[in-house]
Amino acid sequence: MSRSTLLPVVAVLLPCTVALAEPVVEPVPPAVPAPLTVDDRGLPMVAFDEVPADPVLRGAYLYRVAGCVGCHSPPGSDRPHLSGGRDNPTVFGTFYAPNISPDPEDGIGAWTEEDFHRALRDGRAPDGRAYWPTFPYMAYTGMTDEDIHALWSYLRTQPAVKGTVPPQEPGAKVKTFLFAWRWMALSKGPWEPEPDRSPEWNRGEYLVQAVSYCDQCHTPRTGTGVLVRKRYLAGGANPGKDELHPNITPDVETGIGDWSADDIVRYLSTGTDPDGVPTRPHWVMREKIDDSFGWYTDADKRAIAAYLQSVRPVRFDPEAQGWIPPEALERTDR
Ligand code: HEC
Ligand code: HEC
Repeated sequence: MSRSTLLPVVAVLLPCTVALAEPVVEPVPPAVPAPLTVDDRGLPMVAFDEVPADPVLRGAYLYRVAGCVGCHSPPGSDRPHLSGGRDNPTVFGTFYAPNISPDPEDGIGAWTEEDFHRALRDGRAPDGRAYWPTFPYMAYTGMTDEDIHALWSYLRTQPAVKGTVPPQEPGAKVKTFLFAWRWMALSKGPWEPEPDRSPEWNRGEYLVQAVSYCDQCHTPRTGTGVLVRKRYLAGGANPGKDELHPNITPDVETGIGDWSADDIVRYLSTGTDPDGVPTRPHWVMREKIDDSFGWYTDADKRAIAAYLQSVRPVRFDPEAQGWIPPEALERTDR
């Protein structure tokens, strides 16, 4: 329709539309998201009702629930947020989490987003070096591009801090192990949803495997550090720290088969089991709950619970681990 033929139509319509066409001024939503609440060290306080879509806020949420906080901003230490420093004792020696603040020399300020994406997806540094798996990239490799982008967006908004950490302890001999492990145990992501399952189940599996790496602790490993898939979630251990990671399959005798979904949600929030027994204060699950899992939204905790209840029940077998800390079997101090 040409301009000239349109005009008369507009002219006819005008008298009756003018009265209705009061200009409606819609408030423009601010481009900047609501500021993030932080504690006195600058650690994000992410008590959200739902997982935020805004990348910076979503990244802050992931920084908490994926456990980055525990190693790169160790709560309870006086090191600055993002300056790292957490020591991770293993049978191979101690690994220190580095500074990942935007400082160009001591942190990752000189990195591109592709460098960061590669660190999480492939477990490799910008110079191609393979990272030690104490940095749990065998889990983070499963993260979606969107979540990796969110973490990056959040980290870029944080203050740069100075400070480096001691060099990683394991020597050249263990490097051979690292290459063998990468070849056998690292399966690159992203994690793939199962189309036949519900969105809640898929969210649960994603959080258990790619974000909070529950399976990495709660599944036994072979001597070369490969997860024993047929004993998925049926109990593992950390010989570097003398800790047992109990069976969390729905096996009634040795797992959590008699826990309701509410019991699991309560445990992830408080660390107290259905009998009212609290998690050992000096074992890693306590700090994971306080620093990470307790910050999950209710819906995310429910997704984890629904997923755990759906996995195959497997009986706990101390032999499968090959090694069990004596204290763990006594379980008297809980
Ligand atoms: C259990 C402790 C632990 C957790 C949890 C952890 N990291 Fe790390 N991270 C490390 C260690 C240790 C290294 C060093 C590995 C190496 O040098 O081989 C590292 C390295 C890195 C690096 C590379 C830094 C550099 O200078 O090359 C980045 C980036 C990083 N982590 C980001 C994260 C993010 C993001 C999260 C959460 C999604 C996270 N890390 C969770 C321990 C951890
Ligand atoms: C870094 C290792 C680690 C990670 C990661 C981890 N856990 Fe644990 N978990 C433990 C340890 C250790 C205990 C034992 C605590 C105790 O006995 O005091 C435990 C205990 C539990 C229990 C209590 C079981 C019982 O019988 O008392 C549940 C349930 C549980 N974890 C679920 C999870 C879920 C779900 C995730 C992921 C969101 C997770 N864990 C991630 C180490 C871990």
